[in-house]
Amino acid sequence: MPHLNLESFKPLTFPAQCGDVEFLFQADYKNQSGGALIATRYKGREFFLVHKKTENKELLKSDKVTRPSPNFLVKHALLAYAECSGSRILDSNVDNAPENTHLKTHDALKSIPFFVENFPRGREVRIEIGFGSARHLLHQAAANPEVLFIGLEIHKPSIEQALKQIVIQKLSNIMVLDYDARLFLEFVPSNIVGKIYVHFPVPWDKKPHRRVISEAFLKESDRVLSVGGTLELRTDSENYYRFALETFSSPAKSRFDVRKNQEIAIVSKYEDRWKKMEKNIYDVTFTCEDESPEPDIIGDFSFSSDPIDFSVIDRIKKETYKREWGFLHVERTFSIGEDGSMLRLSMGSFDRPESTYVIIQNATARYYPTTPVPSSANLKAHILLNELIHG
Ligand SMILES: C[S@@+](CC[C@H](N)C(=O)[O-])C[C@H]1O[C@@H](n2cnc3c(N)ncnc32)[C@H](O)[C@@H]1O
Repeated sequence: MPHLNLESFKPLTFPAQCGDVEFLFQADYKNQSGGALIATRYKGREFFLVHKKTENKELLKSDKVTRPSPNFLVKHALLAYAECSGSRILDSNVDNAPENTHLKTHDALKSIPFFVENFPRGREVRIEIGFGSARHLLHQAAANPEVLFIGLEIHKPSIEQALKQIVIQKLSNIMVLDYDARLFLEFVPSNIVGKIYVHFPVPWDKKPHRRVISEAFLKESDRVLSVGGTLELRTDSENYYRFALETFSSPAKSRFDVRKNQEIAIVSKYEDRWKKMEKNIYDVTFTCEDESPEPDIIGDFSFSSDPIDFSVIDRIKKETYKREWGFLHVERTFSIGEDGSMLRLSMGSFDRPESTYVIIQNATARYYPTTPVPSSANLKAHILLNELIHG
């Protein structure tokens, strides 16, 4: 994480323009001496820098929740703050290198708002979940140039490896996303997916609730698949295979096929390993038979316009509200000037909690710098927050 160790931290008068970086306001930690978040705008992105004072250190660093990518944005903002405020740098891990334009070649890497705002339409979509070494994803994309492939992975080195190969093989029909597959399908329109591949998922024998396949996942797969589209599980785990059979059999009308040791065109790294060990490999393929309606959207992230009583903020701080859809947790409170407050929240699904900030100023509330991803769990957490802060 980029950071500067300062001789002393010198405050700015806000708003401040420091070259091409703007510093907008400061939010001070409540109930803790020495610490603040500094709202920063650079190249159209807003994020916080964090000032932390410890016994013998004055640190200026990036904020985990709002940290923009690439890292260059934070590094440049850190140096701009130090220079503009006249804070002397004792040491740092921040170089003065110019922006690495090479990173821009990774057009294939997308973030969840890309899909939320404007899901790509107009051609068949296939989704591969947990693509690992990406052998299968790359092979399929090369063999089916008219199809758009979306690869989901939560292991960053696998993502980087796939991105390199996409550039080397000049493939323009793959989008890669670092997101939990169990939550992604919520953002996919109905009836547009031809295939969902789940090849050699982690078996999670001791924590089956973490498995990608579940009743809820099957239901969402059925919704996003076009008629005749398939959800394909391939696994070496007999436990997972049996679990999938049970899950796929539970909707009364469900149609699925089972195969054992079926050869496919491309063998993944995992499959290679299991084959050498002479393990059985199972395919369970679910086929979608009916069209589905578009999902209902259950609201937005606006707050009620009723004035907020400030004493409520202190009452709700640092509590965790657990519900069957997920949770809402107020992690920390901040003050902004004389009459503003800010909350850092963790919210939404237990599988992929989201952290965000809410500013309460002039008796109204707003998320900062952006609203959360509109997953159903986040929207429900928002409804709860709105009720709490309005007493
Ligand atoms: C056992 S590996 C299999 C990789 C690849 N499919 C293959 O056949 O070689 C499982 C992969 O799924 C990824 N994964 C696990 N849970 C996931 C989730 N919830 N969403 C997306 N990817 C996930 C892991 O990071 C890992 O790379």
